[in-house]
Amino acid sequence: MVKICCIGAGYVGGPTMAVIALKCPKILVTVVDISISRITAWNSDQLPIYEPGLDEVVKQCRGKNLFFSTDVEKHVSEADIIFVSVNTPTKTRGLGAGKAPELTYWESAARMIANVSTSNKIVVEKSTVPVKTAEAVERILTFNSSNISYQILSNPEFLAEGTAIQDLLNPDRVLIGGRETPDGQKAVQALKDVYSHWVPEDRIITTNLWSAELSKLAANAFLAQRISSVNAMSALCEATGANVSQVSNAVGKDTRIGPKFLNASVGFGGSCFQKDILNLVYICECNGLTEVAKYWEQVIKVNDYQKNRFVNRVVSSMFNTVSGKKIAILGFAFKKDTGDTRETPAIDVCRGLLGDKAWLSIYDPQVAEDQIKKDLSMNKFDWDHPVHLQPSNTAAVNQVSIVGDAYEATKDAHGICILTEWDEFKTLDFQKIFDNMKKPAFVFDGRNIVNVKKLREIGFIVYSIGKPLDPWLKDTPAVTRDK
Ligand code: UDX
Ligand code: ADP
Repeated sequence: MVKICCIGAGYVGGPTMAVIALKCPKILVTVVDISISRITAWNSDQLPIYEPGLDEVVKQCRGKNLFFSTDVEKHVSEADIIFVSVNTPTKTRGLGAGKAPELTYWESAARMIANVSTSNKIVVEKSTVPVKTAEAVERILTFNSSNISYQILSNPEFLAEGTAIQDLLNPDRVLIGGRETPDGQKAVQALKDVYSHWVPEDRIITTNLWSAELSKLAANAFLAQRISSVNAMSALCEATGANVSQVSNAVGKDTRIGPKFLNASVGFGGSCFQKDILNLVYICECNGLTEVAKYWEQVIKVNDYQKNRFVNRVVSSMFNTVSGKKIAILGFAFKKDTGDTRETPAIDVCRGLLGDKAWLSIYDPQVAEDQIKKDLSMNKFDWDHPVHLQPSNTAAVNQVSIVGDAYEATKDAHGICILTEWDEFKTLDFQKIFDNMKKPAFVFDGRNIVNVKKLREIGFIVYSIGKPLDPWLKDTPAVTRDK
């Protein structure tokens, strides 16, 4: 029986291994993590992450060929194939701070593998890492053990949260990069054999190691660039009276461009896009490619501009001050169908409003109160450290309350900001909400999900990203403020 061990039971490791176990009943899959609470949750009825369809897959396999354990060394030493899916936070100090990824967790995982291995291993990079990490890992492994052969593969994961199970069951492609030596190719084939249980042959692409590593960064950069492009257009639409949804629709009909990923929003979030682009920028700079670095950096700058612009709209519309006003925040997760808040635009928007002394009443169907409070008090990039970090600015959350539904959040509020496109927000009783709000009542839709016309008929003043402006807002141009 082939044994697979995955180091890191997070958003990538957990669902990916669950699907491998489901599709390969003859492979024994164990997911290990240093976090006892995470592993306990994976072994309980309350999984540590919310992902549609995940519960069913885990229930089918757990205890049969899928196990979750904190005994990292035992399972690593017994495995034939080791996936590494640990954190790669952006460095906050030292060389490359604010851009380069911190590879401490990767390095310690590699050293641990070298210490405990007594048989040949295939080590698979699953978490996104900078190009040439495989080479560094290979060195750590070979310099720290003798008589054991290690083959390093890069097998980046392309799943998106909220649709992870579907993405894993039916991937556009599986990418496997390996050394172009006979042993390297044998390892590639071994991993290919795992995926061939359910992925058609023509969707499994094999490349060299560096191409696989770079492809992951490139794919995320291209996707994020599309969003920044449409968000940049949304600003121009507001200035000119065009409608960004109509523009996206017309542009997306070109089969060379395609219709997906063209929804204007308050900004992209998630653990990958910003981190991977910063990583790409850093690699370009290290290679002396200043213009290329600047090009990709602009994708992040436009994203920051979009969040900033949204806050400015809110404040300038409400007589240039939100001080002491109650603002309802609907949605905190970085997208619908996930409880994940990593790099969610809601953090920056809430901070901007708190900076203007607003009182926030936040509701999200999947994000817990302590997570929101932690997010609002943490420094940039601190979220990606497995060691529990103390929040640095607890004063920030004194003006925040977390509530159990949208009606409570909006009661007596002056304005509403919709920051996640949860389906339940589309069917809210806005007449009831309007009746219970202070007047004039504002809605700022950061996800373009409300029926603007209907809400205006009720009496709301509505701002919807990239849509023709409410007459009220036309007189209050959003000025870009310093951050
Ligand atoms: C992304 C990639 O899609 C995935 O392939 C990779 O493996 C990890 O990073 P994820 O971050 O989980 O996945 O979600 P994604 O659906 O890509 O959304 C990212 C952000 O972009 C979200 O905040 C989302 O709301 C935003 N977005 C997406 C838009 O603002 N507009 C769009 O049209 C699409
Ligand atoms: P991703 O979204 O890439 O899956 P997560 O942060 O959700 O990232 O998961 C990474 C996991 O890796 C965390 O649960 C963390 O505790 C775990 N981890 C980090 N370093 C190690 C290590 N050396 N050994 C085992 N687990 C680790």
